[in-house]
Amino acid sequence: MDNNLEEVKAILKKYGQEHLLNHYDKLDDAHKKKLLEQIDEIDFELANSLYESTKKETKNSKDEITPIDYLDKFKLGDKYKYYEDIGKRAIKEGKLAAVTMAGGQGTRLGHNGPKGTYDIGLDSHKSLFELLCDGLKEESKKYGVTIPWFIMTSKENNEATVNFFKEHKYFGYEKDKNLFFFIQGELPMMDTEGKILIGEDGLIKLAADGHGGIYESLVKTGMTKKMREMGVEWVFIGGVDNCLAKMVDPVLMGVAIDKKVTVACKSVVKANPHERVGVFCRRNGKPNVIEYTEITDEMAEATDKDGELLYGESHILCNLFSVNAVERMGAEPLPYHVAYKKATYMDKDGNLVVPDSPNAYKFEAFLFDAFGEVDDMAILRVKREEEFAPVKNADSAGVDCPSTARELYKKFYKLD
Ligand code: UD1
Repeated sequence: MDNNLEEVKAILKKYGQEHLLNHYDKLDDAHKKKLLEQIDEIDFELANSLYESTKKETKNSKDEITPIDYLDKFKLGDKYKYYEDIGKRAIKEGKLAAVTMAGGQGTRLGHNGPKGTYDIGLDSHKSLFELLCDGLKEESKKYGVTIPWFIMTSKENNEATVNFFKEHKYFGYEKDKNLFFFIQGELPMMDTEGKILIGEDGLIKLAADGHGGIYESLVKTGMTKKMREMGVEWVFIGGVDNCLAKMVDPVLMGVAIDKKVTVACKSVVKANPHERVGVFCRRNGKPNVIEYTEITDEMAEATDKDGELLYGESHILCNLFSVNAVERMGAEPLPYHVAYKKATYMDKDGNLVVPDSPNAYKFEAFLFDAFGEVDDMAILRVKREEEFAPVKNADSAGVDCPSTARELYKKFYKLD
């Protein structure tokens, strides 16, 4: 252990992170071991470059953003059935799997637990996980197959998520047969001087690395291998917070297969030019999403000759990928976006600091930054009232909150 400690000190010195061991002696053996493991797992070169990136101008400012083409699911005419038949065949052959990204906590909702365990207040009191699972089961029945379901958790919420599923008998799914859990990656949080933060438990303060880490995690945790063994060729990847997400869509699959694209995404028309959603676009010629935080008012409001928004196809985190594409994307690192957040930490003298304004950098990769890696992708506009009922904020916000999602859900399933 002592030899190991000396080696660790040398590494930390090299990267200017010696403070990580400031309180080492005061930790119990389990925490000492854990801290050393954490240090061993950190890619300090990456951490340094992430810190350097916080000082640079964002990449977006010089990017050339242009509109992107899409297909409207309800204006396909005869092609609708043509695509649907292709998709149905593939689904019946067991070529589709679903992935739900559920690494987040329900903090914004005031919910103490994994976001997927949140009850949006339906009479059934079903959680977001169960609502998604109901949809999956309903579709599975139509095609006479069980769509394998993969759930991405984070280190923070994995145990609570798996326990929740266990308590609910996995909603009729069978763990490790057609239900799989895998854990997304993490990155250390840093202060404005580039020093990695230590949390109140004396351990390094880590945060989930964003949903862009999904490709790498799917590959690293052996999930894509499992999919291949099961004969899966297509993966639908969606968020946990859209209780109307339609994960099994033969038309979307048919479009992807027929057009020979490796990624096919669903969009809904933006509710208004300033709705807080990302929209599909081309960035320097490649498919991408421009986030609501980076789009200018002028672009958000621009319309075409028919009066439709030029950037009006909202990204609803309902995207279909070929397994090949996931593996390819998992091999290439994505850029990280920096978020400036409030983070409680232990200072160099061992005092706990609870900031009342942002003090720390968190780094996240976004899944859609990988879209630029594909030669091309298809975008299918679907109906908002059928497929998009996000639960993002507490009811006090009045939008994308439990009450709005509940109403949309009830309306769609005619529950009143
Ligand atoms: C997201 C999209 C936005 C889209 C909107 C639709 C981003 C950056 N933006 O915004 O383009 O229009 O949803 O609702 O994603 N998650 C993880 N691990 C992470 C981070 C997120 O599993 O490390 C999951 C969350 O549990 C959730 C989903 O990814 O299911 C979306 O993440 P969130 O951070 O809520 O994105 P939004 O800002 O709402």
